[in-house]
Amino acid sequence: MDSKRVMIFSGAGLSAESGLRTFRDNDGLWEEFDIMEVCSASGFAKDRKKVLDFYDKRRIQLGQVAPNTAHKMIANLKANYPQEIVVITQNVDDLLERAGCKDVLHLHGFLPEVRCELCEAITNIGYQAMPKLICESCGEESLRHNIVMFSEYAPNYALLDRELERLRAAEKSLFVCIGTSGEVLNVAQFSQYAKQSVLNNLESSWFDEYFDMCFIESAVSVAPKIEKLVKKFIES
Ligand code: APR
Repeated sequence: MDSKRVMIFSGAGLSAESGLRTFRDNDGLWEEFDIMEVCSASGFAKDRKKVLDFYDKRRIQLGQVAPNTAHKMIANLKANYPQEIVVITQNVDDLLERAGCKDVLHLHGFLPEVRCELCEAITNIGYQAMPKLICESCGEESLRHNIVMFSEYAPNYALLDRELERLRAAEKSLFVCIGTSGEVLNVAQFSQYAKQSVLNNLESSWFDEYFDMCFIESAVSVAPKIEKLVKKFIES
């Protein structure tokens, strides 16, 4: 059993101030694209090229943005307390890694990678459009984005469950949730696994009341407060 355990959990709001659009905010991705056409298994089956183009555009854009101070705050905390802190994100960008954060658990895939649908080989192609559709390992035209789309199985949810159980079992536990609408994963429920919980979002939500502390402001502006709070929790 851990004496102290902190889970730092994030969504698209963490990367918003780096210039990556969220999904459901007013200026979000779903204002411009039909979520079911470009982020679902059925949409992918219907129009493979449209979906591959959608992720190519997001991958290229990722190379044009940089981590913000909230990513750097999380990276600093993880570097200072590698055993006590687990960093889990719904985001597919690599901004936490580029801020220097180690061992980030991505729940919905990783945008710089492509995966072969047949042999499962994963290749990191950085911030470019997919150069080819042929998998180098098996020679088939079966390469795709390494992203979990709606109605696809998310293998890392099993790791999330394990981390939530570890949080619940710890003598002292803190759940920090940054920048998610809770539309896909029930962060209200996750907050009940920890003895203390902190939420940061840009707007109030139905699940604010499930958290001990709520910061309704941008991730960049709240970053120093969260850093101080987590340090105090671990060092107390
Ligand atoms: N700082 C902090 N929070 C912010 C900021 C910001 N600058 N900007 C937006 N937010 C918050 C919004 O208040 C909202 O709660 O980020 C959240 C964005 O919600 P969504 O767009 O729904 O993104 P997310 O919760 O990450 O979506 C979850 O849904 O589409 C799928 O797989 C995709 O991982 C994604 C999942």
